[in-house]
This record gives sequence, C-alpha cells and structure tokens, in this order.
Amino acid sequence: MTTTTAETTVTRGSVGTPHTRVEGPEKVTGTARYAGDIPYADLAYGWLVLSTVARGRIRSVEAEPVLRMPGVLGVLHHGNAPHLESDYVGLLGVRPDPASVVFQHDRVPHAGWPVALVVAETSEQAREAAETLVVHYEEEPHDVAFHAGHPAAYAYDAPHAPAEATKGDVEAELGASALVVDEEYSTPEEHHNPMEPHAATARWDGGRLEVVDSNQGSMWVANELARLFSLDPSSVRVRSEHVGGGFGCKGVRAHQVSAVMAATVLQRPVRVVLTRRQMFSLVGYRSPTTQRVRLGADADGRLRALEHLSLNPTSTVFEFVEPGASVARVMYDADAHHTVNRLVPLDVPTPTWMRAPGEAPGSFALESALDELAEKSGIDPIALRVRNEPRIGPLSGLPFSSRNLLACFQEGARRFGWADRDPRPGLRRDGRWLLGTGTAGAFFPSGAAPSTAAVTAQADGTFTVRITAADIGTGARTALCLVAADALQVAPDRVRVRIGDSDFGQAFIAGGSMGTRSWSWAVTAAARDLRERLALDGDIPPEGITARSDTAEAIGALAAKERHSFGAQFAEVAVDVTTGEVRVRRMLGIFAAGRIVNPLTARSQLVGGMTWGISMALHEEAIRDAASGGLVGADFAGYHIATHADVPTIEADWVDDTDPDDPVGIKGVGEIGIVGAAAAIANAVWHATGVRHRSLPIRPDRVL
Ligand code: MOS
Repeated sequence: MTTTTAETTVTRGSVGTPHTRVEGPEKVTGTARYAGDIPYADLAYGWLVLSTVARGRIRSVEAEPVLRMPGVLGVLHHGNAPHLESDYVGLLGVRPDPASVVFQHDRVPHAGWPVALVVAETSEQAREAAETLVVHYEEEPHDVAFHAGHPAAYAYDAPHAPAEATKGDVEAELGASALVVDEEYSTPEEHHNPMEPHAATARWDGGRLEVVDSNQGSMWVANELARLFSLDPSSVRVRSEHVGGGFGCKGVRAHQVSAVMAATVLQRPVRVVLTRRQMFSLVGYRSPTTQRVRLGADADGRLRALEHLSLNPTSTVFEFVEPGASVARVMYDADAHHTVNRLVPLDVPTPTWMRAPGEAPGSFALESALDELAEKSGIDPIALRVRNEPRIGPLSGLPFSSRNLLACFQEGARRFGWADRDPRPGLRRDGRWLLGTGTAGAFFPSGAAPSTAAVTAQADGTFTVRITAADIGTGARTALCLVAADALQVAPDRVRVRIGDSDFGQAFIAGGSMGTRSWSWAVTAAARDLRERLALDGDIPPEGITARSDTAEAIGALAAKERHSFGAQFAEVAVDVTTGEVRVRRMLGIFAAGRIVNPLTARSQLVGGMTWGISMALHEEAIRDAASGGLVGADFAGYHIATHADVPTIEADWVDDTDPDDPVGIKGVGEIGIVGAAAAIANAVWHATGVRHRSLPIRPDRVL
C-alpha cells in the first residue's frame, strides 16, 4: 500500500507482503557473479591435494617432478608452508577446525585431509599437476566404525549445548509408568553440498589482503583469516556478494586459507575452487547419530519420564557435537527428564553444522518415539502432544517468548484432514500401494546476535543500507530491503541493500536461523535513527546523511526466556510392499516462526527444509568404507538426494506468532522446515505398513 505525499513516498507494510528477490534479474540473466567467476589479471589457480590414507604421517612430498610440469608455479605443503596461528577462539566461540589450518604438520588424521596445494597458470594445469603429485605416507591403523556403545564415547559440553540435563528421577518415574517406550534410533552420515562449490580468490592489494569468497559471513571469515595469518583485522577485506547455498558448511575452510597462503608466497592473485568430491571431506557434514529414547507415561499418555541419549562421532582433532538429545529439553513436559549428548572420536573428517544441527536427527528419534507411545496408549498423536505441552521450559523453568506449537497442530490437522484418520496401521490400499499418514512436532531456537548497520539517505531521495549480511540463497537481501523500507517509511524501490563485505563492519553470520533477525534489528535501529535526523534537518548534503547502529546493548538486555520457533509436520505416504518403494504423496507444514518478512522467500525456505526432510527420510546416506576410511561414492551419483520426481506438492504456511521482544517481530525460518519432517514420514510409513523404521534412510531393502 503506497501513498504519495509532497516530499516522500510512504509505504505501509512492506514487511509481510510477497516480494520477488531484488537481485533476481541479475541471477537469472547470469550477470550475478559468484566467487569463482570474477576475473582478475594475472590470476593463478590452486588445486588441493587430499590424503589417500585415513591415518598416519606424510613421509615426503615429491614436488620436484610436478614443478617441471607446464604452467606450475608452486607446490605448498607442510615442509614449506608459512606458519599459521591457530591457538585462538573465534567470533563464534569455537577454535578453527584443524582441517582448515592447512599444511602445518605431517600428521594425517583422516582420509581426504589437505596435504598440498599445487598452483599453476590455469586451472587445468593445476589439476593435472595435483593429480600427478606423489605423496608418500607412513600409514597407521585407523578406526572409522561408528556404533552405539563405542568404548571411547564421552559426554561433551558444546558451547551452547551442555552435555547433560537432568530433572527428577527418571528411573523411578519409568518404574511407576503404565506405559514405557524404550527404543534405539539411528541416522546416517549426511552431507550438505550446496549447488555452488566453495570458492575463494585471494590477492594482496596495496598492503591489504582481499578475499572474494562464497561464505555465510564475510566478517567472520575476515576475522578468522586475520587471526590465522596474524594480520591486523583492518588489513583484511572479505567479500561474498552472491552465494549459491550454504547450509552450515560455508565457513572458514581449506580453500580460503590455502588461497591466501599461495597469494602471499607467489605475490599474485590465487583462486582455489573445491570439487564436489573434495567437498565430501573438506567442508564438514552431519555426523551419524545413534540415539536411545525412553518414555514413561501414565495410561492417559501424560509423560512421567523422558530420557534422550544421543551419540555422534567426531574427528580426533576437533570436538563437534550434534546435540540430538537437546530437543527433548524444549519439546515436552515430564516429571523427570534426562538428556545427554555424547561424542566418540574416530579417524574421520570433522563434522559441522548442517541445517538444524541436533534438531534434525534429534527430532527424528523423539518424534518417532512419541508416535510409538501414541500407538501403545491408543491416544491420537496430536492429542498426546497436547497432553504433554509445557507451560514453561520443561527444564529451564523459563517462560516462552511465545509458544504456538498447538496452534500449528490445530491448523495443520484441519488443513490436512487429520480428523478423519483411522489410527490403525496397514488398512488403506490404493492398488499396489499401502497408504498412511503421520505427523510430528518441530522447534528451532530463535536467537539474535549483535550486529552493526549503516543507512544513508542520498540527496536523490534514495537510501543505501550497508551491513555485512550474507544472502546464501534465502532472500536475506530482499528481506532487509523490506525491513529498511518500513523503518524508513518509504517504498522498497527507494532502498538499496549492500551486503557481503567485511568493510561494512561487524555483523552476525547467516546461520543458526539468526541472520535475518539479527541484521533486521540493526537495520531497523539505524533506519529509525536516520529518519529522526532527517526530520530535524531536511537538507541532504552531496555525501548523504548516514546513521549507524550497534545492537550489542539492546540484545544484551534481553530477558532470559525460552525463545523458539515451532511447527507441525504432516505427511502422507504410499508404500509398495513388493518393491519396498516409499513415495511421499503430500506434505504440509504449519509453523509459528515469528513475523514473516517476505512470504514468498520464507515459504521457499520452509518448503526447502521439508524437501530436505524427504531426502533425509528416504534417500541420504553416506557410506564410510572401513578399509580406506573414505566415503563410497562421494558424488551426486553415489550420494542420493531427493530429486524433483521424489517430491510431491509441499505446502508450508504459518500461524500468527509475532515475537514480542524483537523490533520487527521476527524469529527466523532458516532451519525449522527440516525439523520433524523425517519423523512425520517415518510415522506415516508405520501407519501404512504397521512396521516401525528406526534407522534412516527408509531404503527399499529395509521396507521389505
Ligand atoms: Mo546453519 S546449520 O546455522 O548454516
């Protein structure tokens, strides 16, 4: 809705109305340049060489023959690489993954460990030489076999997920329970492989390091590179204008670090692009999990005991926890709670954040177990969740900022047609297909982190927002445009948003579903300040008027509350019991995820997450070969992901859930779409067939 007054165009409600991506035309016409596309004079190309052994030492690198090959400029390895400083805790509260701190020693802790970078005049020459390079290893025995009860397992406190949380006496409550569910669940190793591979170009420009990258936070990457190379932060600039997907894997990785190293040594611009195969060992992944869930309930379904134990492997050089057990701490009330996240170090690459880390595998186990309790108690799965809905944080005792899980189930049940469902399994048939429906609950934390922004009023009546945000395909740039337009009370076409440049100052990353919320807070603060200043002095000088914000204080003053988005997932499946094929026929997700800034791109985010849930339920599984320690089929032929033919109509929608403590009302929609999706599908497969699947993916051979 736009009204024009004498001096200004006033828009009400850009936030909440669908808006196509502001950079859409650039993206569809190919003028949008990605990190690996940008031309430079004198550009050299680096190609990483990865270890072929899973554990041992590098005895020697035969660089000499390779250095005589056409176009080869250099071979960097542990014997000649500059020293990196890696003893620090970065902006996100964690140390750098040693796999990114390249070429510092001769030890090999896993297959696919970066051992050398070959640099040449062309990408083809670099690749040819890299594939020719002979590296001699002293091999040691390795262990990549992950299983429940691994003797090396230990409870691990992650920065934001304490290993263990306890309330009451779980054993006593289980003993007093009329109904008990005690099952083990497992999820496989899964990989995030964004369409655009990791790519970085590094060059020195008048004493300043400039890196053009594809990342989830340019300030984050700039800060880490400054630490690693012992540079003043102001002498490092990282830009990341367009990003073809991130999902947690686009942080500081071997490609940026090795590119900076080579650019420093050779004193010319160097580009390093990862191949898809390299991404399977260099950029992190979702670790497999084994989980045990014990539920104890009264005959009416009220939970007396809730225990969730989760175990995941990590590398021997970095402790990464996939906190599957933490889900239970938020979702359901019970007289007694016990949740523990454990780790086991193996000779594997370090896992990392992958869309809804913890919540995605954790919700599969917990929401499947709830369905098993519904079956045992004869209570409808939604009624069971209503019965165990907490009024305050089940363990924290804190109030929820808002909790609209039941509204999601209510609206979802209505739209999905849940009321007509016969709960008995194995009854419905459509020709050769058995049909079933399932549901699951979802949550994802809603956080905000301090950020800075600048908004400039130009003399021509337009505005420019500058913030080190990252648009990893989510539509964040467009969302910030709408948020700024509302705060400035102008139409969005008068606002230009510039992101992805560490020179714009400190800002949070595109991660933890916190990006749009954190950046919108800062943009709103700067825009409101600017509007007040414009009201005082109307004349805009040629350089414009700029207002800046820093949300550290405001965010620091937030009261302690349970802050989350919630959702209800519904799925209908068809199962062919002669072939074992499972088809998802329809999915519906209803979410309570704060105020929705741009319904068009928010829906895409949610549908994307749910699509990934189908993939997780039915397809994705990386197989680690015990003999080599590497993956079998580390590519899109061997690693199956859901394709168009696997994905039916998916509906995602939301209920009103404006966050009361956020200036725009935002919570975040990045990750919740995948949470609970696999459980809803697995529960539907049970309803179709009467068989429980507690291990993902639900492959045809497991269905039979
Ligand atoms: Mo997300 S896993 O926080 O990029």
